[in-house]
Amino acid sequence: MPHDFMPGLAGVPAAKSAVSDVDGGRGVLEYRGIGIEELCAKSSFLETAWLLLFGGLPTRSDFDRFARDVTRHRRIKYRIVELIKCLPDQGHPMDALQAAVAALGMFYPGRNVADADNNYWSAVRLIAKLPTIVAAYARLRRGDDCLPPRDDLGFADNFLYMLTGQAPDDVLSRTLDACLILHAEHTMNASTFAGIVTASTLADPYTVVASSIGALKGPLHGGANEEVVQMLRDIGEPGNARPYVAGLLAEKRKLMGFGHRVYKVKDPRATVLQGLCEQVFRKCGASPLYEVAVEVERISTELLAGKPIYPNVDFYSGILYDKMGIEADCFTPVFAMARVAGWLAHWFEQLRENKLYRPDQIYEGEHNRPYVPLSQR
Ligand code: SDX
Repeated sequence: MPHDFMPGLAGVPAAKSAVSDVDGGRGVLEYRGIGIEELCAKSSFLETAWLLLFGGLPTRSDFDRFARDVTRHRRIKYRIVELIKCLPDQGHPMDALQAAVAALGMFYPGRNVADADNNYWSAVRLIAKLPTIVAAYARLRRGDDCLPPRDDLGFADNFLYMLTGQAPDDVLSRTLDACLILHAEHTMNASTFAGIVTASTLADPYTVVASSIGALKGPLHGGANEEVVQMLRDIGEPGNARPYVAGLLAEKRKLMGFGHRVYKVKDPRATVLQGLCEQVFRKCGASPLYEVAVEVERISTELLAGKPIYPNVDFYSGILYDKMGIEADCFTPVFAMARVAGWLAHWFEQLRENKLYRPDQIYEGEHNRPYVPLSQR
């Protein structure tokens, strides 16, 4: 029975899921029924990853085993390091991440997705190795050696260590861990959808995650965080915000970090990120970008009055990552390091009741056209 065509499948359920839920009108995001604000305050990224993957909070022994498994699988094969070394220095880190993840699966057995044990270890490897790949490319492209993971450091601490070479400040690593929780999952977003479409063909999980990384890269999706910081730098100081935003809107251009397909109020993650900014600034000093961002939000809310367009998760995240010493083009790879937990949770769900995604189309072309020989065209 034909259905109405909805551009971008806006509002069209593409799957049934219990992983997370968004109330776009009230600005509520829950992972397996638990609010993100509570998870940021009381959980950790790894515990949240378990919650997303397996549906409930882990027991102490479950969590200790999972954390140990992830820690033990952070290292990447030397051939993956060699592959990354062959990539152009001026390339985009999301391309490097997608290339390395697609290649990663070639090194591991157990890609038959019918085996739950295989799938557990694939999930562990992907969660464990994405940070190592992101840090490796960031260092190798600037001529530095990549640093092996340190098993004595936690998930976020270890990433910042592999990236910067220094054991991170406790406030910064706890803040990064909270940022990873905030970016871990978000119902049927474009990159999750790309992943489950690939998963529905029974492709292996490394290929599924490589599909999702490709979708996340786009500036309308995960790539917005990098664009926001570039915009804030272009604006320079709060006094320039009004003419900049007014000009952008007059040209019918999109304000990066604003708007959302589902939220019709401010993204609750943006609010939590602002709170994290204030914590970090108290310890590590303020960021000039933040004052500009607050003024952009004030001006935009005024100029967009009446339109449900408010800051989303990408508007404040880059300011924090910049403070942690993460380069702007690595912001989306950090988003991917977190969202891989959500992608894998939906992959598990898809496999439980799989049906190949193969939607229909409304054909607008012609029929019965004759072939015209080249000599007559
Ligand atoms: C993420 O889906 C998810 O859950 C994604 C995400 C996740 O966690 O996975 O939340 C992460 O991707 C957040 C979004 C990051 N992207 C950006 O910040 C890019 C800027 N935002 C826009 O491109 C836009 O808001 C989208 C793409 C996010 C959503 O847009 P929709 O739902 O496709 O709606 P639309 O583009 O058709 O816009 C509807 C109207 C238009 O105006 P009219 O033509 O009707 O007059 O709202 C306007 C748009 O011009 N509008 C904006 C705007 N976003 C929408 N106008 C100015 N600036 C914006 N940012």
